[in-house]
Amino acid sequence: MEQIWLDEAFKGEIPNDFQGKVGWQSPSNIALVKYWGKRGKQLPQNPSISFTLSECCTETFVQYEKADLFGFKFFFEGQENPAFGAKIEKFLLDNQAFFPFINQLNLKVESRNTFPHSSGIASSASSMSAFVMCLLGIENQLVGKQFDFQKASYFSRLASGSAARSVYPKMALWGATDCYKGSSDEHAVSLENDIHPVFKTFRDSILIVSGEAKSVSSRAGHGLMEGNPYAPARYAQANENIKNLLLALKSGDLDTFINITESEALQLHALMMCSNPSFILMKPNTLRIIEEVRNFRNETHIPLCFTLDAGPNVHLLYPDHLADRVGDFIKDVLLYYCVENQFIADYVGNGPKRLL
Ligand code: PMV
Repeated sequence: MEQIWLDEAFKGEIPNDFQGKVGWQSPSNIALVKYWGKRGKQLPQNPSISFTLSECCTETFVQYEKADLFGFKFFFEGQENPAFGAKIEKFLLDNQAFFPFINQLNLKVESRNTFPHSSGIASSASSMSAFVMCLLGIENQLVGKQFDFQKASYFSRLASGSAARSVYPKMALWGATDCYKGSSDEHAVSLENDIHPVFKTFRDSILIVSGEAKSVSSRAGHGLMEGNPYAPARYAQANENIKNLLLALKSGDLDTFINITESEALQLHALMMCSNPSFILMKPNTLRIIEEVRNFRNETHIPLCFTLDAGPNVHLLYPDHLADRVGDFIKDVLLYYCVENQFIADYVGNGPKRLL
């Protein structure tokens, strides 16, 4: 695949009057089967599946104009932010063989998140995919091509692994598996047409247990999987979970969905605890919420379950028609465990939106 993108790269001379602005909004995603452990050039050790979110997004605009040399400025929420920009600049320089035209452009990037900055929600999936979509938008102006979402997923993956899954509506699968035709380690694929309607409108209420920055980055966490003695068992288990979750997603089997989703969340954090050095990203209130959710489900038989990202916040997943019932439970019981009663009412979304 890499060769195709290299061959089709625009290598010509950019006209002197070439200038304009592109903009994309791209969502965050929440994994059900987790990607934890990588190899080679940002390739996953096991396949993963996620819901694409709707409310947690990054909006990015890129203004471009012909220049003699590559120029780059990055603004986050109105302020110039060289630290945030450095990651994008590095991605561009690492991948200039695919996008050689950047060496003839001045780029001004303006980015903002639609969710609170202090919520502890990771924004690399939404921000990197939004930027990559803008970059492909500029390339398309030069070569006059249709937007290619697979290519967007491929380069989003190189920018930040899980970002590969953000470019598709509803649900995505990233990583090669015999259980899904067309799946690949190099890019994600859409699962939109292979899921039961109940999952197309699923809710994700994100309970903010802590807004603090994580003590261990995802990058470091992935790295620690290399010496983790449980890694081979984990990768085997993830593949088994992919197989069973794909079947449950198709048939609408909520019991299996809950069983796999919660087990995956706990496995992710168990792997952190079994790394060397070990680390814990959950907080006491994370466990309290998990206990409340399981008690609520046992008592009411309402199919509400939880998942966790690489952090202490709890994602509550449930069918849309139960929103009132679960909403009462969140307000009456769970907000007590959240910082300043904060939560984000998100739901499964329709993928990135072109803004300009
Ligand atoms: O994309 P990264 O490198 O930030 O890793 C994401 C890892 C998890 O969020 C914990 C799991 C996942 O599959 O999204």
